Amino acid sequence: MSSRITTVFLIIAVLFSFLVIISKLALFRLPGDNRGYEPEQPIAFSHRLHAGELEMSCQYCHSEATSSRHAGIPAASTCMNCHSVITASLGAVRAEEEAAAKEKRAVRPVVSQELSKLYQALGLDEQMKRAGTPRTVNWIKIHDVPDFVYFDHRAHVNAEVKCQSCHGPVETMERVRQIENLSMGWCINCHRDPQAQGIKGRNPSLDCATCHY
Ligand code: HEC
Ligand code: HEC
Ligand code: HEC
Ligand code: HEC
Ligand code: HEC
Repeated sequence: MSSRITTVFLIIAVLFSFLVIISKLALFRLPGDNRGYEPEQPIAFSHRLHAGELEMSCQYCHSEATSSRHAGIPAASTCMNCHSVITASLGAVRAEEEAAAKEKRAVRPVVSQELSKLYQALGLDEQMKRAGTPRTVNWIKIHDVPDFVYFDHRAHVNAEVKCQSCHGPVETMERVRQIENLSMGWCINCHRDPQAQGIKGRNPSLDCATCHY
C-alpha cells in the first residue's frame, strides 16, 4: 500500500517538474536572439502611417543607408519639414472645426499630445516659439549586432537588398519590431545563396574577416 502511494507521488513529482521545465523552455531564447523585441518609443511614431499610408520613402528619413555603415535615425528637424505646419491629425482638426462652427466661435489651434512631445524636444512651445533648450529624442535602439561583428548598410542597400529582407514589413508596423534573429547563421544563409532571396548578380563573401575584424 505505502509503495503504491510512493509511486503515485513520484509520478506526480516527475510530471510537475516536466511542466516547470516546459514553461521555462517557452521563455528560453538563444543569447542575442531578440526576435519580437518591440520597445515603446518616447514618441508614438508610426511607420504604418508615414511609410505605409503616406508612402514616404525609407531613405527620406534613413538617408545615410546608401552612403554609410549606419542607416541613421532622423533628427527632429527632419520631422519639422511637415510638423511645423501639421500639428495634429486631419481627423482632430476637422473635429475642432465642426465643434467651433456648432458653438459659433473661432477655431482653436489643435496640437496632438504625441506631437507636443516633439515640440518639447525641440524647445518650442505650441505657437512654435522658442521656449526652452532643445534636446535629442532618446529613441530606443532595436536592432543591434555585437561589437565584434562588422555590418554595413551601404554594401547591402547598394546591392539592392531590400530593407524588408532584413527588417520585415516595417511599413505595416505601428511600432517597429525585430523580425530576424540577426545571428551569424542568418547572415551566412543569405551570403551563401543570395539568389534564393531574389538578389541577382552578387557574390557576397563568406570569409570570416568580412564580418569579423
Ligand atoms: C518620417 C520618417 C521615417 C520614415 C519615412 C521611415 N522611418 Fe524608420 N524610423 C524613423 C524613426 C524616427 C525611428 C526611431 C523610432 C522607431 O523605432 O520607431 C525609426 C526606426 C526604424 C527602424 C528601427 C531602428 C532600430 O533601432 O533598430 C527600422 C528598422 C526602420 N526605421 C526602417 C524603416 C524602413 C524599412 C522604412 C521604409 C519602409 C522606414 N524606416 C521609413 C523614421 C522614419
Ligand atoms: C512628409 C511629411 C511628414 C514628415 C516628414 C513627418 N510626418 Fe508625422 N505626420 C504627417 C502627417 C500628414 C500626419 C497626420 C496624418 C493624419 O491626418 O492622421 C502625421 C502624423 C504624425 C503623428 C500622429 C499625430 C496624431 O496625434 O495623430 C506623429 C506622432 C508624427 N506624425 C510624428 C512624426 C515624427 C516623430 C516625424 C519625424 C521622425 C514625422 N512625424 C515626420 C506627415 C509627416
Ligand atoms: C542585410 C540586412 C539589412 C538590410 C538590407 C538593411 N538593414 Fe537596417 N539593420 C540591419 C542590421 C544587422 C542592423 C543592426 C546594425 C548594428 O547593430 O550596427 C540594422 C540597423 C538599422 C537601423 C538602426 C540604426 C542603424 O543604422 O544602426 C535602421 C534605422 C535601419 N537598420 C534601417 C534600414 C533601412 C531604412 C534599410 C533599407 C534602406 C535597411 N535598414 C536595410 C540589417 C539590414
Ligand atoms: C538578404 C541577404 C543578406 C543578409 C541577410 C546579409 N547580407 Fe551581407 N551582403 C549581401 C549582399 C548581396 C552583399 C553585397 C555583395 C556584393 O556587393 O557583391 C553583402 C555584403 C556584405 C558586406 C560587404 C562585404 C564586401 O565584400 O563588400 C558585409 C561586411 C556584410 N555583407 C555583412 C553582413 C552581416 C554581418 C550580416 C548579418 C548581420 C549580413 N551581411 C546579412 C547579402 C546579405
Ligand atoms: C556574413 C557575416 C559573417 C561571417 C562571414 C562570419 N560571421 Fe561569425 N558572426 C557573425 C554574426 C552576426 C555573429 C553574432 C551572432 C549573434 O550575436 O548571435 C557572429 C558570431 C561569431 C562568433 C561568436 C560566437 C557566437 O556564435 O555568437 C564566432 C566565434 C564567430 N562568429 C566566428 C566566425 C568564423 C570563424 C567565421 C569564418 C568561418 C565567421 N564567424 C564568419 C557574422 C559572420
